[in-house]
Amino acid sequence: METMTAIMTRRSIRAFKETPVSGEQMKTVLEAAMNAPSAGDGRPWHFVVTTTRSQLDALADAVDEGNDLFKQAQAAVLICLDESLEGFEGFGPQDCSCAAQNLQLAVHDLGLGTVWIAIINVPPRVAGCRKVLGVPEEMTPFALFPIGVPREPLEAEARYDAARVHVGEWSNGVME
Ligand SMILES: Cc1cc2nc3c(=O)[nH]c(=O)nc-3n(C[C@H](O)[C@H](O)[C@H](O)COP(=O)(O)O)c2cc1C
Repeated sequence: METMTAIMTRRSIRAFKETPVSGEQMKTVLEAAMNAPSAGDGRPWHFVVTTTRSQLDALADAVDEGNDLFKQAQAAVLICLDESLEGFEGFGPQDCSCAAQNLQLAVHDLGLGTVWIAIINVPPRVAGCRKVLGVPEEMTPFALFPIGVPREPLEAEARYDAARVHVGEWSNGVME
């Protein structure tokens, strides 16, 4: 898929078919995630990957999204922040966000779907991820991505908003 097409058509997918996700597809997704930029090239991340039904079902309770997201997902990736690897102190969440967006775009490129489930700063979800996926205390669960074949495609949305663009100076006019 062409890069701009991937960026402009990606949507959050919360319902999945029963079709399995292959190991090869997961490797591609992780390669994309790990190719993200990071401050000082620190790459302060780890990825916990599962395709195990019992763990995916347990994640449904652990993150309590109030729907069948993880019960339908065929795989999930938890991005964990390892602060000891930060290239510059405090930049880890930004680094992990870059990896997260690369991951989402790679998933979409493969014809799969995912949605960013917030974990960091949500203590019950952090605890749930630690329990289900065995994440050690020194790692910070950052964001969780259920993955599968979308049950139905979502329409692309055009969100360009000229009112949010300030040309040259804040007070200047719009860029249509
Ligand atoms: C930092 C972040 C946290 C998010 N957390 C959740 C979440 O916990 N649960 C959820 O269903 N969607 C979550 N989302 C997905 C957003 O709801 C979604 O990206 C937004 O509504 C725009 O829709 P789109 O992704 O289809 O373009 C999150 C997205 C981001 C970037």
